[in-house]
Amino acid sequence: LSTSQIQALLNNAANFKASLTAHNHDLVMGAVAFDDGSELEQTLKNKTVALLFTKRSTRTRVASETSAVALGGHPMFLGPSDIQLGVNESLYDTAKVVGSMVDGIMARVDGHEEVELLAQHAGVPVINALSDLYHPTQILADLLTMVEAFPTNTSSSKSPACLSSLAGLKVAWVGDSNNILNDMLVALPRLGIHLSVATPKGYDRNERVWGTMQDGIEEERKKGGSVTVAGVDWSNDPKEAVRDADIIVTDTWISMGEESSKEQRLRDFSGFQVTEALGREGGAKTDWKFMHCLPRKSQEVDDEVFYGKRSIVFPEAENRKWTIMSVFEWVFRVATRAQHEQRN
Ligand code: CP
Ligand code: NVA
Repeated sequence: LSTSQIQALLNNAANFKASLTAHNHDLVMGAVAFDDGSELEQTLKNKTVALLFTKRSTRTRVASETSAVALGGHPMFLGPSDIQLGVNESLYDTAKVVGSMVDGIMARVDGHEEVELLAQHAGVPVINALSDLYHPTQILADLLTMVEAFPTNTSSSKSPACLSSLAGLKVAWVGDSNNILNDMLVALPRLGIHLSVATPKGYDRNERVWGTMQDGIEEERKKGGSVTVAGVDWSNDPKEAVRDADIIVTDTWISMGEESSKEQRLRDFSGFQVTEALGREGGAKTDWKFMHCLPRKSQEVDDEVFYGKRSIVFPEAENRKWTIMSVFEWVFRVATRAQHEQRN
């Protein structure tokens, strides 16, 4: 996504959030109807979205199912024990078959190449609901949450979720070199947000992601917009990373699929738990905020921070819904237009 596409998606997400949480609304003949008589546009009317998940999920699944229903569509959850995939059937065959019957696929997979294969062969739009390399819908929710926590101070902005208010912020990542960090790397510096990373020795950057990040920064620089692109620094020292941070972020040290290396990882990540002491001793801004994509284990962040005043993890989780709704609306509006143009 370009930075202007990200901005458009977030504006739409903020509009969905404002209208569906502020207005009294009801379901009338399946459509969301507001008090003032208007109705939520049913972009997914008569459309089925397959939620093809080979890994567990709470937030992404609930956000996707409820969003699809609100937009008039039918979400079809296909978990690992529901279909033949992986036991009696290949991913290629599954892509061809499922893609021939549904209008889109939201896919949570293991290796990133699996979601790429789906996108190549399904013949319908495929949205990445998490792979081992990226988790793009998470970072859209994170950006919306950041905008809410650091709103723009100029009332002239017409944008309900103005990303320019984030330029100049410093986000410290303390934890694993994983899919969530990767998505922050390819999104945040382009938007002018400095990313300061601390991972244990041996948990190094992914070179493919690093290249994508650099290309994105370069492209943004060439455009020469009003936002100054930011950079990334990377160390093995959590205290160094959190210096002057506005936001400290972490994630589990043991991502789904890495359970067999748990004991080794617990040893390697010793000293990486996010605590008040880390923020204080490392010199984070006094009012630093805490973010985490969830699910959370107490190893990576203690209860004081996780449930404390700095924590914005629950709005961050809720924003999964509004941002996924925005992604669905965009993908299906564009896909429907393309189908229509093809027909005519
Ligand atoms: N953050 C996130 O993706 O959570 P789930 O795994 O519960 O979907
Ligand atoms: N890094 C975690 C994110 C879970 C939402 C995982 O891949 O398991």
